[in-house]
Formats: sequence, structure tokens, C-alpha cells
Amino acid sequence: MRATAIAHPNIALIKYWGKRDEDLILPVAGSLSMTLDTVATRTTVTLGGERDTFTLNGEAAQGGSASKVFRFLDRVRSLAGSHTPAAVVSHNDAPTAAGLASSASGFAALALAASTAYGLELTPRELSRLARRGSGSACRSTVDRFAVWHAGTDDETSYAEQIDAPDMRMIVCEINAGPKAVSSRDGMLLTRDTSPFYTEWAPSTERALERMIAACQAGDFTRIGELTELHAMRMHALTMTTEPPLRYLAPASFAAFDAIAKLRADGVEAYGTADAGPNVVAISRPADAERVAAALSEFGKTHIAAPGRGAYLAADGSGEAA
Ligand code: DP6
Repeated sequence: MRATAIAHPNIALIKYWGKRDEDLILPVAGSLSMTLDTVATRTTVTLGGERDTFTLNGEAAQGGSASKVFRFLDRVRSLAGSHTPAAVVSHNDAPTAAGLASSASGFAALALAASTAYGLELTPRELSRLARRGSGSACRSTVDRFAVWHAGTDDETSYAEQIDAPDMRMIVCEINAGPKAVSSRDGMLLTRDTSPFYTEWAPSTERALERMIAACQAGDFTRIGELTELHAMRMHALTMTTEPPLRYLAPASFAAFDAIAKLRADGVEAYGTADAGPNVVAISRPADAERVAAALSEFGKTHIAAPGRGAYLAADGSGEAA
């Protein structure tokens, strides 16, 4: 009747950008990410009451974010054969504008808390598929450390699972840059509808993913880094070809990428990536992370994340710790 789950954001090394099915949230290509051990969403779902409610960081949520949560609860109820409303109380410890997509940790935590509260016993694959329905990238935050999201061809075959990769760190640099970006969801639609380069994006991403999986399996950090930066640049190049152009990176983002290249020239292996916003995330070997963070600190607040756990139940809620 009540469950609390915790989940962390993830940052993709091979990006998800574009859906083949908007309702099922099936991506046009697979992707690969690291789940962070920093920043958490903690969500408690309690069954009962007159109607669904959603409280985020102590305030009653309304509008788009609340209706996404309520639609998600409808999905869980239909799986569970229940009509009972629920209270969702969620806390995200990301500092405001941390630039870490809260939708991934948010829907991963909600998927686990809600499915547990409604008495569903989902396999890891089913949990990942359920989280995907809230936000595509959330299916990767149910997985420990490194996740491959198989694009699949239908609801059953589109899910994330763990992949081995060498230990590394992500250095998150919060670059503050003016007005809020267009959401990933809207940006993906605009790309599909207006970019003349979109047709090549999915096949080239699948090829990049195959190479990335091989590099992970070989434990080849250098190759992982090169492919990470390459794929991020391709995604941002693609968004800049929409009409109107979507430019997520700011001048300071490019300066941060230059600083990362300079580190490499100085013998510190770091590589950069960026999601749908100006923040830059570098990857490095564990021993180099402090030095990379120091080099990026002039562009914004930085923090270092290690590979973290996929969504898990809190030991104090109902249900056992997973
Ligand atoms: C640039 O998962 O937030 O971060 O499925 O529409 O909710 P929806 O989109 P979302 O998109 C994430 C896009 C990205 C790349 C990535 O995380 O792979």
C-alpha cells in the first residue's frame, strides 16, 4: 500500500534523440549511459484518498508535470487491475538548475515505488519498460552503473539492461546560460519534422552504439571517450539543423569543450558530452577526475559522479530494499 524508491539520473554516452512511437516511447535507435551516484529523487507512493495527488519538493504540483504523473499512475493501475488513487510525494535533491535531467531519476523512482505500492512484482526488464513510458531515458536509470537501452521494435523489446564498462567518473559542469532550453520531447519532434539530416541520424547512431558496446566490452576508455564526444557533437549538430534552429550549447559550453581538449593535449584523458542544454559533462578515469573538475570550474559549478545504483526501494518504506 505504500512504497518509497530512490533513483539517480543518468548521462548518455550514446544519446537518445527521436522516437519511432510517441505513445509507447520507442526510440529510433538504441543508447548507452552511466547512472550517477550523485543527486537522487526519492519518491513515496501511498495508496488511498479521493483522487491522485503529486507533491514535488514540498509543493503540490499542477499542470503538465502532474498530469504526466497521473497518466503514469493510470498505467500502473491498469497493470495491477486497481482503481485506487494514490498520493505521490517526491523529493529531488538536485540543486535548482543542476542541469541534470530530473525526468530520468523521477520516472525511474516513480516506476519502482508505484509498481511496488500497487503490488506488482516486476522483473528488472518490466521495470525498465514501465519507466520508459514516463520518460524514455528513465528506462536507463533503473539499471546499475552502465546501461544499454535496446531500441526494440515494440513495448516488450524496448528496455535497458546492464553492460560492463571500465570504471570512470563523470564531471558535471553546470553552465548557466540564459533562457531555458526547448524540452527534449519537443526538440525531438522538431528535429523529426524539420531536419533534412534526420534520416541519417538513426542508422548512424546504431553504428555508433555497436562501436561503443565493443569499446565497453574491451575496457577501452580512450575509445569510449572518443565515441562519447563524437556522438554528442553529432546530436548537437543535428539539432542546429532544425527550423528554427535549436541551439542548446552556449558559448561557455564550447569553451568547456576547448578546456577538455586542452586537458587531453596536456596528457589528461577527458572527453565531453552535453544533453539538451548548455551544461557540459566530462568523463575521465577515476584518478584524473579532480584535475578535470578543477579545469572546468571556471565555467560553472562542478561535481564528480561515479557509477551508481539503478532505482532501489528504501529500506524504511514498505517492501524490502532491492
Ligand atoms: C538529450 O528521456 O528526457 O538527454 O522520452 O521525451 O521524456 P522523453 O525524453 P528524455 O530525453 C533525453 C534526451 C537526452 C539524451 C539522452 O539522455 O539519451
